[in-house]
Order: sequence, then structure tokens, then C-alpha cells
Amino acid sequence: MNTESRIPAEVYPGDSNLEKAPEPEMKYIPVTGERYTDKGFMSLEWEHVWRKVWHIAGPVTDCAHEGDYFTTELGPESLLFVAGPQGRIQGFYNVCQHRGARLVLNEKGSVSSFSCLYHGWRYYLDGRLADAQDREDFDSDPCSHVQLNKIRTQCFAGFVWYCLDDDAQDLDAFLGPIKSQLQTWKMEEALRVEHFTVELPCNWKVVIDNFQEGYHIRTLHPQLLETVDENKEAVQYDLYPGGHSRMVLLGCHPSPNLQPPDIVPQVLVQMLAKWGLSADDFSGRLEQIRPALQRQKRRLADSFNKDFSHLTDSQLTDNYLYDLFPSCALSVYPEGEYIWLLRSLPHPSDPTKCLFDYWTLARFPAGQESLYWEHMDMTLTRDQEVEHKRFKFGEQSISYGIDQDIGICEAVQQGMASAGFKQAIFCHQERRVQFLHDNINRYIKAGTR
Ligand code: FES
Ligand SMILES: [Fe+2]
Repeated sequence: MNTESRIPAEVYPGDSNLEKAPEPEMKYIPVTGERYTDKGFMSLEWEHVWRKVWHIAGPVTDCAHEGDYFTTELGPESLLFVAGPQGRIQGFYNVCQHRGARLVLNEKGSVSSFSCLYHGWRYYLDGRLADAQDREDFDSDPCSHVQLNKIRTQCFAGFVWYCLDDDAQDLDAFLGPIKSQLQTWKMEEALRVEHFTVELPCNWKVVIDNFQEGYHIRTLHPQLLETVDENKEAVQYDLYPGGHSRMVLLGCHPSPNLQPPDIVPQVLVQMLAKWGLSADDFSGRLEQIRPALQRQKRRLADSFNKDFSHLTDSQLTDNYLYDLFPSCALSVYPEGEYIWLLRSLPHPSDPTKCLFDYWTLARFPAGQESLYWEHMDMTLTRDQEVEHKRFKFGEQSISYGIDQDIGICEAVQQGMASAGFKQAIFCHQERRVQFLHDNINRYIKAGTR
């Protein structure tokens, strides 16, 4: 089995961003159906994976000013993040310390303090109890010592991150080498412009397994062959310490599996035209489109009012898909102008369901107030309100490609419950899936030792 495959060096000589990670030792744990259906395994994951890793809570911009807050869910927990004194963002378990009522019921807002609906206990933004009804009726004044339960919180790359375990490694150690890669995209300039949460009829791993491999592109997303080289020799998979990973797909480069193989697909005709190039010059030599577009993008960046100085050539044309262990995929579009966060999270109680988060993040370079979004044919503005749409699978569409991905998940989940399925058989292109499951077991083993 070839585990060293990478984007051929001659395609991008010396592109620092394509440096191949050393292949780790794999454990090859059997990926069986119970991992997707069993409540006991779900509990192990909750205790030893979900509670131990760092998660993205939301965009820093949702806590831009003192008093701004938002809530988010992870499994059975609700978590509250608020910009306190001096704008410092802190996370708390969203639970009143009096009798345990959920403290904040809505998703975001701005307040000077938090008041519990049940008996009116009121908390400062830094979590200390400010006021309690009839405080003299308690043996000791609760305002002297009660505060909301804090969780570890940190800001990085434009996101608020949190970890539910006080003893787990810090965020830098958790991210490891993937941290510097995320920094190359200037994600801190991105704003969330779409926000969906969809309840899917499958375990969270069915979804994130899918985002680990390009093996399904030819069958599930045939339209992508026009722009992306999904051929197994061309896709680079990098597996990083800590369980994170990356897949790099050559973009602006039709797949050799595309038919007919020598005619420039319409989508690339338009892209070439946008950058002042003629498709006629590339028929029969489609592999030249990508380097030509890279050169042209560099040449015309100023006239297009774009700054590509922080990006390598590969980043101008290729598709980068990161997985932050265990289940947060960041799909970065060429040029890094758009980033999609595709994340599956566990259902509070049912291993055969999950919650799928889909965020579109659009980069607004400093000073830029609006952005024309080609795919949606709309202009985005810095201050627009973004509605969080929540629905169940099948009730609404997200996007053509994502609908294809999540559309297969129910059928996979059904198979996981079948006595006729023993364990997954992975090809080399799917070793990120194996790596993910190996790392889930590594966390569980570390926690149950
Ligand atoms: S539970 Fe919150 S004030 Fe009583
Ligand atoms: Fe897909």
C-alpha cells in the first residue's frame, strides 16, 4: 500500500504549504457498526473524547463588545460565552448555580448581567453572583461565594475555543502543527455569513468519515471532476500528531476521469475569462490551466483589489480540507476568501442521530465593507444579520454538494445496524478515516487506563 502519496513534487516545486507530514504509525482498529449505534460507546466518546478536546464555540465577532454573549450546545451541555470587563471573552456552563435551571435561553444578545428566570438570581458578566432574592434567608450569603462554573476559553483564528476539561492539554498543544497552517489563511478576517444546524439521522462519525476522503467524489459528486483532480495519485493526505489531518485536492485542474478529457469544462471557461485568459488556449492541455491561473492571479491581484501576498501558489488554486480532531472540518476555498466549517456533533442522547453545523465564513480584508459572493450572486456586508437556521434533514437544502454528502448518511447509518456488516474495508485514500477512529480509541484508552 502506498502511504507516501502526495501531490507530485514537480507540480508544485518547493511549495512550503504542501510539505508532507510524516506518516504516523496506524493502529488499524476495526471500524465496526457498533461504533455508530451503541449507547455504551457513545458514553465513552462523551467522557473521554468530547470532554477532552478543544472546540470552536463561535466567531469572536459575536462577542465584540462588553456584554455581548452567545450560547452553543455540545451533546447534553449548553455553554455560555460572554465578553466581560475589558472585552475578555469567558465561557461558562449555562446553568444557574441555585437550583440548576438553564440560565440563558436564547442564542445571542447583549446584557449588563444575566438574570435567572426561576428565582431571579443575577450574575455579573464575569460569572460572580451579583444578587439573590432574600439573600439573608440563606445560611450564608450566596453572593459572597457563588459564581457560574467557568470553562477554559481562548480566542484564536477569529474563533472562540473552549475545552470542558481543566486538565487537558492547552489549545496550542492540542492543535500542534495544524495551528500554523490555519494561520496562513488569515481566518481572523472572516465573518460568518451563513449558519445552519441540521439534525441528521446518523451517528456523528458517519458525517465526518465522509469528509475525510476523496474516494467518493467520482460517484457522489461527479460535477466536481470538472474542477478538481480527485485521482488517487494527485490527492495529498497528511496525518498529524494529535489526530488532526488534511487533504489537499488540486483545483482548477480537471480530473483525468472527466469525459471528454480534452475540452475545457464550462466552469473553467468562466474562471479563465474572469482572469483575462481564453479557454481556447487550453483545449487538449487542461493541466496547464492551474499554473496559468496562478501566474495570472499574481499578475492581476492589484487590479482585482486582492492581496495574495500571504498565500503560496497552491493556495491560489487548490482545495484544502482540514479536520480538527475529532469532527470539525474546515474546507478552504482557493484564495482563502471563503471557508466552510462542516462539523458533526453528538446528539444529546441518541447515537443514531447527530447535529451537523454548516457555517460559511467570508473574509473581509481590513477596510473592506462589502464583498460580492459569486456562488450566491449576492453582496455581503460586514454588519449584516445572519440567521441561524435549524432544521431536520430533508426539510431544506444547504448546498448542492453538501446535500449530496449528507444525503448518503442515512443509508450508511442503516448499514451500521445490519448483522451483515462486519467492519469497514479501507483503501489507501481512506486512511484518514482509519486515522480518525484510531485516535478516538487512543483518547478512550487514555481516559480509561
Ligand atoms: S434556579 Fe436560578 S434562581 Fe433559582
Ligand atoms: Fe463529499
